[in-house]
Amino acid sequence: MDQYRVFGNPINHSRSPYIHCCFAQQTDQQLNYQSQFVELTAFAMTIKQFSAQGGRGANVTVPFKEQALSLCDQLSERARLAGAVNTLSFNDGVIIGDNTDGLGLVQDLLNNDVVLKNSRVLLLGAGGAARGVILPLLEQQISKLVIANRTVSKAQDLCQQFTDTKLTAIGFNEIEEQPFDLIINATSASLSGDVPPISEKLIARKTVCYDMVYGKELTPFLNWAKMQGSDTILDGLGMLVGQAAESFKLWRGVKPETSLVLNKLREELMQGA
Ligand code: ATR
Repeated sequence: MDQYRVFGNPINHSRSPYIHCCFAQQTDQQLNYQSQFVELTAFAMTIKQFSAQGGRGANVTVPFKEQALSLCDQLSERARLAGAVNTLSFNDGVIIGDNTDGLGLVQDLLNNDVVLKNSRVLLLGAGGAARGVILPLLEQQISKLVIANRTVSKAQDLCQQFTDTKLTAIGFNEIEEQPFDLIINATSASLSGDVPPISEKLIARKTVCYDMVYGKELTPFLNWAKMQGSDTILDGLGMLVGQAAESFKLWRGVKPETSLVLNKLREELMQGA
């Protein structure tokens, strides 16, 4: 049976095996998908071993997405511009890298009826998570994309990879105090219980607030956004399922339906499973 993995550190709580198992059942595909913990110094070796053993594909998660890029023999344009790889395909020893995170985010936003065309978007963070979504967001004909980061130079470096004039890079305290249409939290602040220090004036009722992190409880950022009056707060569970669906499509040539799996995951999450 075709073998797939998700590699990460930590990896215990990964939902990817469950998601891909549901996709496989739904589309009648025969495959085996498991999660694998990787020591911080053993990523390259682990990937090469899996490829040599005949593995067909893999997802890569924290903290290896940038390292995965340098291992690839071939890269999609998306992955190159993202500077990060979340999806690997193995083809006779050739390692092919792609990045489906941004597509997953855009798909989730559209599924939630968020209008992206001509919208003003604020992206918080300039790590791998932020990089992966820039091109797919720009492809949706948004009118402005402001990247704000605690370390401003990282946001500026990111911007330089793109020639698009809709992009600007600034620090949290330099953001023009006017509500955005969409604010995406791509920092890892929620994981440590923090909220990026941005002004409440950036949020109006119509401002859609999205956190790439998800959990049983609202993330600190979404909780804060709700208190500021945002009518639409969305967490990253839909993005997780969306990026998985895009990976599955790359590997198997068929795109699974996402809403059933998403509903099941949400139910399990709320029950604390
Ligand atoms: P990832 O691959 O998940 O993006 P990363 O590359 O380590 O992870 O990037 C983490 C991002 O979250 C960075 O933009 C980081 O800001 P710095 O570049 O200044 O380090 C941001 N971040 C992490 N903790 C934060 C916090 N408490 N407040 C604001 N930003 C935070």
